[in-house]
Amino acid sequence: MGKNNHRKPVSRRSALGLIGAGAGVIAAGTALPTKFAIGAQAKIKVGTLLPYSGTYTWLGESITNSLELAFANAGGKLGGREIDLIKVDSEAKPPKAAELTNKLINQEKVDIIVGPVHSGVAMAMAKIAREEGTLTVIPNAGADQVTGPLCSPNIFRTSFSNWQPGHPMGKVLAEEGKKKVVLCYWGYGAGKQSAQGFKDGFMGGGGEIVKEIAVPFPKVEFQAALTEIASLKPEAVYVFFAGGGAVKFVKDWAAAGLKDKIELVGPGFLTEGVTKAQGAAAEGIRTTLHYADTLDNPANRAYRAAYKKAYGKEADVYGVQGFDAGQLIQAGVGAVRGDVAAMGDMVKAMEGAVIDSPRGQWVLSSAHNPVQNFYLRRVKNGVNEVVRLAEENLADPATGCRA
Ligand code: BEZ
Repeated sequence: MGKNNHRKPVSRRSALGLIGAGAGVIAAGTALPTKFAIGAQAKIKVGTLLPYSGTYTWLGESITNSLELAFANAGGKLGGREIDLIKVDSEAKPPKAAELTNKLINQEKVDIIVGPVHSGVAMAMAKIAREEGTLTVIPNAGADQVTGPLCSPNIFRTSFSNWQPGHPMGKVLAEEGKKKVVLCYWGYGAGKQSAQGFKDGFMGGGGEIVKEIAVPFPKVEFQAALTEIASLKPEAVYVFFAGGGAVKFVKDWAAAGLKDKIELVGPGFLTEGVTKAQGAAAEGIRTTLHYADTLDNPANRAYRAAYKKAYGKEADVYGVQGFDAGQLIQAGVGAVRGDVAAMGDMVKAMEGAVIDSPRGQWVLSSAHNPVQNFYLRRVKNGVNEVVRLAEENLADPATGCRA
């Protein structure tokens, strides 16, 4: 099955010992108990469709680790039932997504899907999950359509829409009076939609997008793009790369001698979970995101300490989104006391949940996408530090969602 089964599961005690009252979920509206009885003892099947190989491996593992942490924090049970976690490697390959989603639903017969990371995988997965009515929680992929025209009662997202983290960065540069910007991104849905978010935030300030450069996903040969950027001499470059691609881009940028000449900015994925690998090249980079390592709240402190203790490394936004996926599922399944067939009540409880997240409390929009704060951050000594709040309670426009 999955290629991610080598890690030690987090024991209930270790997580409970570290995550105190700070992290949790507040379910608004309590669903009535249903007729559920037969099968109450069976394990709940949760299937992950996440990258455990390829350029987004770090992201998939961070999400899975934190999902397990959230489940352990809930006593290893959902609505009184034990959990069977089935891990499937999406490889971040959209052409494989339909087959793998069908496998989880029809062969493994999972009750809940958690995934994916890649927007292209999300597009194929969401169409099937929508038709099949399988409860699905997306812990990363930002495809705008999933909480737009493809929105569905059984599909929830605990991360962001691609538009969301780009918009505040555009606004920040517009406010600073930047006029000439180049966009450079992986040329698939996430990169294009991230660029659109940036443009929507930036263009009102009278600035100009000098050029858009798309690099095919998951290619990391950036030399031609860097040469073109150097000759265009913009004031700033907004880029969308994540995981292994973000490491390579930031290092190539510094090696090309651009670091002290042109400002490099992006959505926070540019420096999330990768600053150690990027080293000195990452220092000073500004990004916008719904999370920062240094957010000073009890839930963040407890989560980061628990993650470090369990996995021996620093937590990041992908983990936070996985942790919150676990919390949201707990709110829904807990409300129906494990009776996952009571979909209406489960959905209602999830829609009304207030997630006490390491990123700060957030709620869902009617399209099932987080309404959340976005922060301007800067890398200092390898840490994504908060500079200031860039946009408060930002909701995705959810164009086309008739929820
Ligand atoms: C996406 O494909 O939606 C995505 C991947 C990595 C980071 C952010 C978004």
